[in-house]
Amino acid sequence: MTVGTGGIARGLTGRGFVKPQPHDLIVFGATSFVGQILCRYLADHFGIGQDLDWAIAGRSAPKLESLRNSLGPKAAKLPLVMADAGDEASLHKLCDQARVVISTVGPYALYGEPLVKACVETGTDYCDLTGEVQWIRRMIERYEPAAKQSGARIVHCCGFDSIPSDMGVYFLERQAMQRFGQPCQRVKMRVRAMRGGFSGGTVASLMNVIKEASADPALRKQLANPYSLCPPGYASRARQPNVSFAEYDEDFKAWVAPFVMSAINTRIVQRSNALLDQAYGADFTYDEAVLTGRGLKGRLAATGMGTGLAGFMVAGAIAPARWVLERFVLPEPGEGPSPEEQESGFFDLRFKGFTADGRAITARVTGDRDPGYGSTGKMLGQAGACLALDVAKAATPGGFWTPSTIFGDQLIGRLEAHAGLTFEILEPT
Ligand SMILES: NC(=O)c1ccc[n+]([C@@H]2O[C@H](COP(=O)([O-])OP(=O)(O)OC[C@H]3O[C@@H](n4cnc5c(N)ncnc54)[C@H](OP(=O)(O)O)[C@@H]3O)[C@@H](O)[C@H]2O)c1
Repeated sequence: MTVGTGGIARGLTGRGFVKPQPHDLIVFGATSFVGQILCRYLADHFGIGQDLDWAIAGRSAPKLESLRNSLGPKAAKLPLVMADAGDEASLHKLCDQARVVISTVGPYALYGEPLVKACVETGTDYCDLTGEVQWIRRMIERYEPAAKQSGARIVHCCGFDSIPSDMGVYFLERQAMQRFGQPCQRVKMRVRAMRGGFSGGTVASLMNVIKEASADPALRKQLANPYSLCPPGYASRARQPNVSFAEYDEDFKAWVAPFVMSAINTRIVQRSNALLDQAYGADFTYDEAVLTGRGLKGRLAATGMGTGLAGFMVAGAIAPARWVLERFVLPEPGEGPSPEEQESGFFDLRFKGFTADGRAITARVTGDRDPGYGSTGKMLGQAGACLALDVAKAATPGGFWTPSTIFGDQLIGRLEAHAGLTFEILEPT
């Protein structure tokens, strides 16, 4: 069911015959914590029914209407589309009305598959915010052949995981090729500074991964494989580094601690290299960590962060401790950082790359809002717009892409111009 006029009006023919045209983009899960941030951004940035014709979708009409009202009078004509993540017929109808569907209905491993299937079957393009490696792998295994046939372009990980990492490495490697004529075969991403919080949906997704992995040794093995998202038969000789506890990083002259998002980001970056026919090199190695500073203070901070993360993972794997965390410590579904926290949040990531003959290059990628929500809403919105408006179907066949392999420079341009991100080379100047 579509309420509103945006897409239909565009279908008026010369004889007055009304042929419904799909919207450029529909946000499914618009009422989620991050979905609401995304919709506010789309309304402010693209307006309603203008260059980007978009609509909102979900399972609850009153919630969708309340969201539309919260977007102000200009949003009165924003179309609403009803669909339920568990009802395949409604998802097919949703796909029939969209060229691109953005989904923020998570945990994706619990609710996401029917929509991916519907998009693949109808040739509808799709992007989301999942960071669930095991689910992405399952989707690729089950649906990639059909997506190639139908032309559906599926792009997971279009938020803080993994756009800054994937696009940051892509940017660094392009700069290395221009300056040195060769790629960096070794790249390190280090979080220099970051401020932000978690929402209930993100916590639920993380807890679900820990829960599934603690019950399944084969899944634990899959999650530990740095090439788990690369195409079947992909061969790389490189043994991938991994910062799993506090260590000193000679290249950054500082202590580093494990970074929780590296478990997904490193897999996406390796998939990008695989899809690009090893443009970053057959021996390309990549890892991520958090910089904690120099001297004893840096060492203590790295040890504290490493111990805290390990403790959280262990607690998440033990059912009673997980219950206590979910019940009393972590945010509930629908909760997340306040608008003030989103506004005052930011991230600053450093990428150091080394070519095979020892030349070095350093890039910085920054964002001007909290990574998981304020910035993620903008990144996801621009990724969806890029898919709908910039990347022609004829140029990019159906299949499971990564952000950098499908969007490339066009997304970097959008992120810098409209989403508060910066990409720059610090050295060599
Ligand atoms: N990659 C990143 O950087 C990043 C950042 C933020 C979030 N995320 C991910 O984004 C997802 C959303 O997070 P969140 O905290 O915003 O979630 P949330 O507030 O808990 O919202 C969940 C959404 O799913 C919808 N939903 C649940 N079951 C459904 C069904 N059967 N049919 C239709 N809709 C259904 C809910 O609809 P109702 O409103 O009707 O209940 C709600 O809109 C999570 O998976 C999270 O991990 C990723």
